[in-house]
Parts: sequence; C-alpha cells; structure tokens
Amino acid sequence: VAIEAANSGSIAKAAGILRAGGIVAFPTETVYGLGGDANNGLAVAAIYAVKGRPAFNPLIAHVATQGVAEELGQFNVTARRLAAAFWPGPLTLVVQKHAGCPVSELATVGLTTIALRIPAHPVALDLLRAVGRPIVAPSANRSGHVSSTTATHVQDDLGDRVAMVLDGGATAIGVESTVIDCAQEPAVILRPGGITREAIEAIIGRVATVMGDGARPSSPGQLESHYAPKALMRLGATTCHAGEALLAFGPRAPMHDGVTINLSPSGDLSEAAANLFAALRTLDANGVRVIAVTPIPEVGLGIAINDRLRRAAAPRP
Ligand code: TXA
Ligand code: MG
Repeated sequence: VAIEAANSGSIAKAAGILRAGGIVAFPTETVYGLGGDANNGLAVAAIYAVKGRPAFNPLIAHVATQGVAEELGQFNVTARRLAAAFWPGPLTLVVQKHAGCPVSELATVGLTTIALRIPAHPVALDLLRAVGRPIVAPSANRSGHVSSTTATHVQDDLGDRVAMVLDGGATAIGVESTVIDCAQEPAVILRPGGITREAIEAIIGRVATVMGDGARPSSPGQLESHYAPKALMRLGATTCHAGEALLAFGPRAPMHDGVTINLSPSGDLSEAAANLFAALRTLDANGVRVIAVTPIPEVGLGIAINDRLRRAAAPRP
C-alpha cells in the first residue's frame, strides 16, 4: 500500500480513486477511516470485504457540510441542536433517512435510519469537498481488531488491501466518534466516544445510553469482542504479575519490572484516549500474552476508554 503525506496533490489523487469506486484510508480527528463512495454499492461492498466486516453492521456517511447532511437525513430539533453544537467534530448523528437519499442500501443495511458525521480533520474535510459525494468510512482496521490512529497502523492491518493511505499524522482524539440515535425520543447514545455524555446533556438534556455498538444492542455483561489486541486483557488490575505487561493510567500506577506503558502519567483522560490504541498495538508488538490494565475513572472520556477496554477484554469468537 502507498502511504502518501496528505497535501493538495495526494488529496486530489485520493479523490480521483474514490470517485472511480476505489478505497482510500484517510485521517479523521478520531481514528483513520477506510473510505469509499457512499453512493456506489460496489465501493461499499469492497469496504466490507477489505475489513472482513459483518454485513449487518451499518456504516457512517461522512459529509463536508450541514447542507449535504440534510439532503441525506431528516434533522429533527435534537439532531439540529447537536449538529450546531458539535459539528465538525467527533459526534455521529443517527437520523431518519430521506426518501431520496442516494446512499447505498448496503451502507445502511436496510435500516430506515442513516448515521451522519462531519469530521473536524482538515484533510478529511478537503477530501470530502474534493470528492463532492458522501464517503462511508468505518475505522481502518480489520474487523474486531484495534482501531488505527496512524497511517502505519492502517498499513500493518490492511496492507495492500487498500490502494492508498493519506498520512495526516497521529489522530488527536484517538477514540471513535460518539454515536447518538436522534430518531428516538429521548435520544440514545449507542456508542460512547469523543464527545462526552455530559457535553451532550448540556445541549439537549437527559439522554439514554444503550451500549450496543450500533445496530446490535447487547445486554450488559454480554459485550461483543471488538478492538481486540492479540494479547489477553486483565482489567481493573491494582498489581501486575510477572510476565504480564502493564497498561497504566495516572501518577499512582503500580511498579512493574516488565513492559509498561502509562496512557497518561498525569492522569489526563484526553491524553489517555489519544494513546490508547497505539499502546495496545505496541504491547502486541512486544509479544506479551496478558495486558494488565489499571482502573480508569468512569467519567468524561473515561467512559469511551473503558468501553473500548471492556470490548477488547470480552471473550473472543
Ligand atoms: O470516529 C468514527 O466514527 C470513525 C471515523 C473513521 O469517522 N468511524 C467509525 O466507523 O468508527 P465504524 O464503522 O467503525 O463504526 C460505526 C458505528 C457502528 O457502531 C455502527 O453500528 C453504527 O456506527 N451505526 C452506523 N449506522 C447506524 C444506524 N443507522 N443506526 C445505528 N447505528 C449505526
Ligand atoms: Mg470500528
């Protein structure tokens, strides 16, 4: 796969590949996305094939402007308020699909709703404007594996299954967008992510949370395996055994002789989110068998971090 530094030339080239039905990986402020023309069923099918993604899991359509978003979906008051407050940014709005919505049925897997997002990354926005069509983009990783926060991660995971990776450096936020279903009243958070529940509730009042990662809500304790490194995960660790690797958070992390990564020695949840997926990949690259993870506070971005860690620790298929 060709990794190309993002600039006006490589962005124009990527836009050409996308318009021709090809697949391109590109940076967003959350994680790298595996992009294809949302209106082209063959391109959408190729994304599922490249990722090995189950065909029942719908994709997010990325757009450059609120105007385009409103051509694809119906914005009620809740959706409009959230878009005004957080777009461009790490929030995905699930709304009713418009009757004339050109997005492939394959991307919405036959649902009456569609997931929409305006990303905040300048490269993603330039690319969307250059293509002039909505781009569906799941995280650019093998399905079920750790998400990619650098161009090299994409290459490690997908190799020559993608034509091109636009390199925009490491992503700033590091966990995926928050997915909120605005078609329900009250709105329901389907996936915690880069915009916190507190920030959302400050705009639209109380929301419900169903941690189901989208179309397939799972009951508490029955989390589907996702974001999984090769190593096993031991969460809530207060000590670290010999032979384990330590994934720590904050200034009071336990002492450990073996491989250790501290997601944020100062205890900053934003920094920890930005480092999370790269840390899991680095620990895997060290060949460790078990990763002991110290507790992370269940507030703010910690909710999204803990969601990813619990899924990474869930029994694997
Ligand atoms: O930050 C992100 O959102 C990244 C970047 C690349 O934009 N994308 C991403 O896409 O995380 P993906 O495909 O890995 O996750 C999309 C999530 C899934 O949980 C999916 O089930 C949910 O969005 N989703 C998509 N369409 C939906 C719909 N109509 N109703 C409910 N959930 C939906
Ligand atoms: Mg994903």
